[in-house]
Amino acid sequence: MGASQQEQGPLRVALLGCGVVGSEVARLLTQQSADLASRVGAPLELVGIAVRDASAPRPLAESVDRSLLTEDAEGLVARADIVIEVMGGIEPARALLLRAIEAGAAVVTANKALLAEDGPTLYKAADTAGVDIYFEAAVAGAIPIVRPVRESLAGDSVRRILGIVNGTTNYVLDQMASTGMSFDDAVRQAQDLGYAEADPTADVEGFDAAAKAAILASLAFHTRVSLEDVAREGITRITADDVAWAAQTGHVIKLLAIAESVTDDDGSHGVSVRVHPALVPVAHPLAGVRGAFNAVFVEADAAGELMFYGRGAGGAPTASAVLGDVVSAARHRVLGGKGPEESTYAALPILPASTAVTRYQVRLAVDDRPGVLAQVAQVLASKGVSIEAVRQPSEAAAPGADDTHGADGGSTGVAHLVITTHAAAEAALAATVDAIAVLEPVREITSVLRVEGA
Ligand code: HSE
Repeated sequence: MGASQQEQGPLRVALLGCGVVGSEVARLLTQQSADLASRVGAPLELVGIAVRDASAPRPLAESVDRSLLTEDAEGLVARADIVIEVMGGIEPARALLLRAIEAGAAVVTANKALLAEDGPTLYKAADTAGVDIYFEAAVAGAIPIVRPVRESLAGDSVRRILGIVNGTTNYVLDQMASTGMSFDDAVRQAQDLGYAEADPTADVEGFDAAAKAAILASLAFHTRVSLEDVAREGITRITADDVAWAAQTGHVIKLLAIAESVTDDDGSHGVSVRVHPALVPVAHPLAGVRGAFNAVFVEADAAGELMFYGRGAGGAPTASAVLGDVVSAARHRVLGGKGPEESTYAALPILPASTAVTRYQVRLAVDDRPGVLAQVAQVLASKGVSIEAVRQPSEAAAPGADDTHGADGGSTGVAHLVITTHAAAEAALAATVDAIAVLEPVREITSVLRVEGA
């Protein structure tokens, strides 16, 4: 450690995985090798690329020597100073990273699923071995957000993180909003463009966003948060009508990952982490995040509001984050020092999502006769939920109102109400909706969406 550039031999870099991200990591490592050597103070030598089938065709940049491909991942990690894992999945990624750490290598991983499921095992192993573990690419691709939360904000107190951390779902919702297309058509389009997988479950059901939320929450609140601590709801139930109604009321629908400090009824302080679709006011910076882009909005005591924006997926953007981590780990090899260890000193309880304070927008179809609105308002009052606005749009203006017309085109006496509440505990809001649903003049609760970022 601490050797001068003249004394320092090459640092051996092993790459595990050579898909969309891995091939870009290999390209950048080789094409930028001179710059990287100058930034690190030693050459970075790519010594192997572990893949399942070395004979399979794959698009590799000309700068990358194909003879580096190997099916012997274990042998490769044993001879590396820095191991980059971009293969994904839990195994064999976990076993290979642990083996690398135990052998004294620094590790860089983009594996959000592994970190959200079993990050503490890896962090502990890295602490014990005294090596770096970096994972900027695991959350929101190219966007620097792990390092800012882990290091730049280490002297502040984070109150809340609101993130659009899944590009596929943001693309789907944005397409629905801008064209009026259905959820299924928008997913098909996202698949055609290569954003969504053939099986889009991990994205549209919020699993990918939940893993990222767990990682960010752990860092922001110095508390272990795993995937199972995250309350999760995807976007599969969002309809074209929901999206149109959102626009009518001055909102856009986004899949948000929310990690925040909360206090429950007993005064206990804790952390709530949730992923769900939400109405975001059009004036909020997150509302302007279009297409497959990601953004993370952070509220901290001293810093105030911060927003990080960029590409959350894709080969080159994700490789950018990986390479930044590789340079950090490599500099420590040359100059000494070490990146931050896992910080869990706060060990806050994970409080259920029902303790979170939010706002609801409820759409309902009711009999159109005197006194119905008063009945609904009475339920809200009895639950201590304050109304911010009630809208009863004319039928012509109501998205989806066609279904309230009889076969002859005449009105069947149905009115649509859109009720937006002030902030209240999620549990009180949910109980209010349940109580409204059983009122005699209420025909249907058409949708319930949370309003965030107001
Ligand atoms: N599938 C993710 C997305 C990228 O759509 O943002 C990888 O986490």
